[in-house]
Amino acid sequence: VMSDLEKAKINASQRVVSEFIEDKMILGVGSGSTIALAVRFLAEKIHKENLHVVCIPTSFQARQLILENNLILGDLNSHPKLDLAIDGADECDETLTLIKGGGGCLAQEKVVASCAKRLIIIADHTKMSTNLGEKWKKGVPIEVLPCGYTPVAKKIEENFGGVAGLRMAKMKAGPVVTDNGNFILDWKFPTDVTFDWKSTNTTIKMIPGVVETGLFVDMTEKAYFGMEDGTV
Ligand code: A5P
Repeated sequence: VMSDLEKAKINASQRVVSEFIEDKMILGVGSGSTIALAVRFLAEKIHKENLHVVCIPTSFQARQLILENNLILGDLNSHPKLDLAIDGADECDETLTLIKGGGGCLAQEKVVASCAKRLIIIADHTKMSTNLGEKWKKGVPIEVLPCGYTPVAKKIEENFGGVAGLRMAKMKAGPVVTDNGNFILDWKFPTDVTFDWKSTNTTIKMIPGVVETGLFVDMTEKAYFGMEDGTV
């Protein structure tokens, strides 16, 4: 049985795939449960219409999805310029600023998005917000070098407030390790403060030991949300 949320993700996925995928594209493939659904429709369209699309993964998961669906796997070093990247988000505000990395993939997602002419977000209605933090309560994911997670967390907390906690694994005693061998801090930022996300992102990124933040500012061209009533 399909949940309403899954249906919303599927509707948005179908819309984006039919509207944006074209022959001879170099395409960035994002990560997460929504993208897992979108890749099904992507593969269907590519195989049915016999399109030549090179897919650049943003994670281990994306790479697996590309291979499982018999799509053409590429990488950023052979294809440094992408026509389009599609990805999910944990939250997206009215300015199309995103929180990403709920699934642990954010650094490669951001590199791929930065190489794409356009970034299109696919999501369900639970991700749509006015101000960041309204919907995604787990904090901003920040990928850090394992050797410095504590000083980085302290610097973030002293500078901005809130709590930056080390993300722990569920099926293992110890921290979550990213596709890049790093750790993740989930920064629960104070909600009584108005953040300038662009400068906040830059300041956090400049802390030695920070690999990347899950804040995506000024990167997204459009976001498609599957709504409760079945519209997109
Ligand atoms: C992966 O780490 C994220 O950046 C995803 O894009 C985000 O978590 C959205 O995932 P879902 O589609 O599973 O909600």
